Amino acid sequence: MSEYVEIFEMGPRDGLQNEKRQIPTSDKIALVDCLSKAGFRRIEVASFVSPKWVPQMADSGEVLAGIHRKEGISYAALTPNLKGFERAVDAKADEIAIFGAASEGFSKANINATVAESLERLVPVAEAGKAAGIPVRGYVSCVTDCPYDGPTPPAQVARVVAMLRDAGCYEISLGDTIGQGTPETITAMLEAVLQEVPASMLAGHYHDTAGRALANIEASLALGLRVFDAAVGGLGGCPYAPGAAGNVATEAVHERLTTLGYHTGLDASVLTQAAGMATKMRTTA
Ligand code: HMG
Ligand code: MG
Repeated sequence: MSEYVEIFEMGPRDGLQNEKRQIPTSDKIALVDCLSKAGFRRIEVASFVSPKWVPQMADSGEVLAGIHRKEGISYAALTPNLKGFERAVDAKADEIAIFGAASEGFSKANINATVAESLERLVPVAEAGKAAGIPVRGYVSCVTDCPYDGPTPPAQVARVVAMLRDAGCYEISLGDTIGQGTPETITAMLEAVLQEVPASMLAGHYHDTAGRALANIEASLALGLRVFDAAVGGLGGCPYAPGAAGNVATEAVHERLTTLGYHTGLDASVLTQAAGMATKMRTTA
């Protein structure tokens, strides 16, 4: 049997959060229900951030209430603070994610806090998750390049990863938020991060702005990573990262991993159907 590599589906959250047109809640629910048939173990469907900052995600509670939950799938939500955590608990998110950055410029633009302030704010969220028995994932943005500060030193990423590990995150997802990483810069960053945590605790979250996400995934596979975030139809971007084009497309990652001899447990025909729905949401925006 070939080795399993997990794709963590991001479309309903990282994909849709950047769309300007307010997408009807029923369309979001239909997309998640379709994705639930594809074979994912984890799907990020919600974001309990400030609706003033990201209006598109304001209906996250309704999305979680409306989906047909499939047993065995963890439906995940972003939580930037305790208020977001409480909303996620009310909506019965199966797991939550706290998110920080390796660069000061992006941290300020995205969550209105310095890196140090953000970690102070996130530790209580992680503690609350642990106390409630809810798994907590961590994100680090701008792991190779920042739209405000330029290249990110790998040691800075390793430092934030170590803090998220100490906060109790079960897995840390490394975001190439603006898709400027190369196999070389991704490798240098991972070599620093792997001094702090094993590859089994890491995920690659690579945006495809420069068309290098698949090459960056291959570089990460070579260093032992076996979880990658992606969004069907290549949806998305971050509203506070100018130039952040879509996430790497799930169907492209599935195809590349299959070609490389891994298996993802995903049904390609369902992915095609979900990618069609996602693309329609984007092109009608
Ligand atoms: P702030 O303005 O500094 O803080 O925002 P605040 O506490 O003054 O809150 C402002 C208002 O929002 C207040 O309302 C709060 O009550 C309310 P008002 O008193 O003015 O009426 N508020 C909330 N409402 C609902 N739920 C909440 C919540 N929190 C505050 N949880 C804050 C600070 C962190 C809240 C804000 O900056 C924020 O929400 N930022 C999130 C931005 C975001 O979602 N970015 C995209 C996700 S990250 C990403 O995409 C990267 C990733 O994909 C990895 C990668 O690619 O790199 C993960
Ligand atoms: Mg992202």
